[in-house]
Amino acid sequence: SSSSVLAGRRVVISAGGTREPLDPVRFLGNRSSGRQGVALARAALDRGAKVTLVSGSIEVAPPPEADLVRVETALQMRDAMTEAVRDADVVVMAAAVADFRPSEVARHKIKKTVDDEDAPVVTLVRNPDILAGLVAARRPGQVVVGFAAETGDDTGTALEHATAKLARKGCDLLVLNDVSAGKVFGKDDTEVVVLAADGTVTPVPPGSKERVAEAIWDAVLPLVNQDG
Ligand code: C5P
Repeated sequence: SSSSVLAGRRVVISAGGTREPLDPVRFLGNRSSGRQGVALARAALDRGAKVTLVSGSIEVAPPPEADLVRVETALQMRDAMTEAVRDADVVVMAAAVADFRPSEVARHKIKKTVDDEDAPVVTLVRNPDILAGLVAARRPGQVVVGFAAETGDDTGTALEHATAKLARKGCDLLVLNDVSAGKVFGKDDTEVVVLAADGTVTPVPPGSKERVAEAIWDAVLPLVNQDG
């Protein structure tokens, strides 16, 4: 039955935003709520999967039935994902990973000086692309799903950008959020398009992140090896 197609399958999902420390009390973060990743975890559990949730900063409760791995930074998320996906059948990178992190983390709280108006200059360095790394290291048959928040601009539509990203990252499916109107982050409702490596484009009707999670799993299922 459709509710048990993921029975016994191992699913690893990343959710939420990473936090990149500047000093012991400050970080660079983003507005990811973790809702879509948590909804995907819950839907996979409902379908019988064994779920590991690698969670950055989230504003919603993770499902208690998932194995929870808490991380803070992109580097920690990369390490946790690399470990968690070793025996996974499906990997979903729903997290909002910081592209950059401060090149140095101050050991003590950065203080303002009282006698002048100086401000520190923060230098950033690139974080690794976790999704691309997971694709490169994936085991045979493992399905890898990425997300992309895109806006249309002078160089192309959101769909065109996402199509290029799918090819560049090498994942099997890419879930496109068109964020042109600033509508997705932290909101209850969402609207996505699922792009497959074979060129198939599946628009998902707008709805709650829970409904959208169901539609995403419906798109993933045909790719999951049915005999292993
Ligand atoms: O390149 P972009 O950030 O648009 O790609 C989004 C996808 O890549 C998401 O699935 C996100 O989780 C993943 N990602 C990643 N590592 C990064 C940046 C994004 O895995 N450093």
